[in-house]
Amino acid sequence: TILILDFGSQYSHLITRRCREHNVYAELLPCTTRLEDLHFKPKGIILSGSPYSVYDKDSPHADPAIFDLGVPILGICYGLQEIAWALKGKVERSTHREYGFAQLKLNKIHEGDSPVDALFQGLGEEMQVWMSHGDQLSEMPPDFHIIAHTKTAPFAAVAHNSKPFYGIQFHPEVTHSPRGKEVIGRFILNICNCTPNWTMEEFIGKEIARIREICGPKGRVIGAVSGGVDSTVAAKLMHEAIGDRFHAIMVDNGVLRLNEAQQVYEMLNKDLGVNLTVVDASDLFLSRLKDVEDPEKKRKIIGNTFINVFEEEAAKIEAAADEEEKQGAEAKGRVEWLLQGTLYPDVIESISFKGPSATIKTHHNVGGLLKDMKLKLIEPLRELFKDEVRALGRLLSIPAPLVQRHPFPGPGLAIRILGPVTREQVQILQRADSIYIEEIRKAGLYNEIAQAFAVLLPVRAVGVMGDERTYEQVIALRAVQSEDFMTADWYVFPAEVLRRISSRITNEVEGINRVTYDISSKPPATVEWL
Ligand code: XMP
Repeated sequence: TILILDFGSQYSHLITRRCREHNVYAELLPCTTRLEDLHFKPKGIILSGSPYSVYDKDSPHADPAIFDLGVPILGICYGLQEIAWALKGKVERSTHREYGFAQLKLNKIHEGDSPVDALFQGLGEEMQVWMSHGDQLSEMPPDFHIIAHTKTAPFAAVAHNSKPFYGIQFHPEVTHSPRGKEVIGRFILNICNCTPNWTMEEFIGKEIARIREICGPKGRVIGAVSGGVDSTVAAKLMHEAIGDRFHAIMVDNGVLRLNEAQQVYEMLNKDLGVNLTVVDASDLFLSRLKDVEDPEKKRKIIGNTFINVFEEEAAKIEAAADEEEKQGAEAKGRVEWLLQGTLYPDVIESISFKGPSATIKTHHNVGGLLKDMKLKLIEPLRELFKDEVRALGRLLSIPAPLVQRHPFPGPGLAIRILGPVTREQVQILQRADSIYIEEIRKAGLYNEIAQAFAVLLPVRAVGVMGDERTYEQVIALRAVQSEDFMTADWYVFPAEVLRRISSRITNEVEGINRVTYDISSKPPATVEWL
């Protein structure tokens, strides 16, 4: 395992990713983590970048014990300055930030300079790198020497004369440093001597064993599924580990996509064999949403109602399990655990020392569930990034269209109906959305788009049909490309695809006579309209 200490850079999680892409398991922990609290012995340590300056009064610093652990250390940007700070080098405050591409040139390596070239071995004399920093090193710590420089940064990469300590000013973890991943590879594979054995197959085996061990021979687990990738993969993994002792619950909240509850049932229960109950609570949800227009209120109502319905259903399952247990027949034990599809980015968000970034919208998740329930939490995906979950899904034989599915928000169509949410409005949007997605799939564009959906606007426009004047609602189509949904660009469709979609929606969906396409990027817009 590689330990990555997070000093709060926006790129920290990317370092973790790059290590894993070399099949080396890496864990990101807050920079304030003390070595004595670690549950593993790292084979190497990477110090991330940071928005701070090492000389700030409240700037974060690593446990000085890392320098005595006897393992290689790589400092990136602030990480380099942290090494210099700890080992008595000098960092210069800069009045301007250096931001953008730079050409890194390796310094001539003389014989006897050891083991300086290991970090860039075989990568040529020059490479393009990405810089993003304010401060920079102005004087090397004792016993260090320069291994690479740029036009503006004489100390762009430095190394200790005899210990495997390295510092680099640029960011190898971002894709703007094309050979950066290889630099990280040199560090973790050649310098730290990690074995590249962290694979998804390995993960499945280990995780199933872990689940079996924590659940014991009898404990039962319940969990919510939504039809999305994460909950489906988590459910299937639980099923592989403990079979019918895992019981999934799907809540039909009345604002799902067209036929979604039915499709999820077919796939999870019929095809994948997961023990699943679908609860139709659409009346309850829609009655509570009546006349509500405020998006945050909609989110709250849906989140809270979800918890009510889930807990009620869970209580039934628990009671039935207790009854079975009493009868002693084929006892599977009591319900003790709640499955949660938490992913690694959520974990990072909650442990990062700078705390979660400002909330722009309150995203609904099932986190609220545990407050009232006496269940313990089980999170089989907590070490994985989204695309790792997809790879896991493929290995678990989850159908490809589901594994590649665009994200769908917990509050569902309620935040895509801009006016009051009624069953009629939901049905109009469901039909329009389904045509839209069907045509995108037919055109072979689905996997090029990060997220696509239709939005129902609360305005009416005039149209003409046959000889009649119509006065009906408007559908807005949204499609974006995005890496992480923090920023997004609107997708440029071929015109004929848009034409087909618009013509089908206006012809086939009663109540719609006009279709518009949303050409806003995020920021300043968001992906969803509410
Ligand atoms: P925004 O609209 O914030 O969306 O740009 C970014 C991503 O988050 C999804 N989203 C939500 N997901 N509950 C969710 O589970 C929510 O309340 C919610 N709001 C937005 C959105 O679909 C997009 O993928």
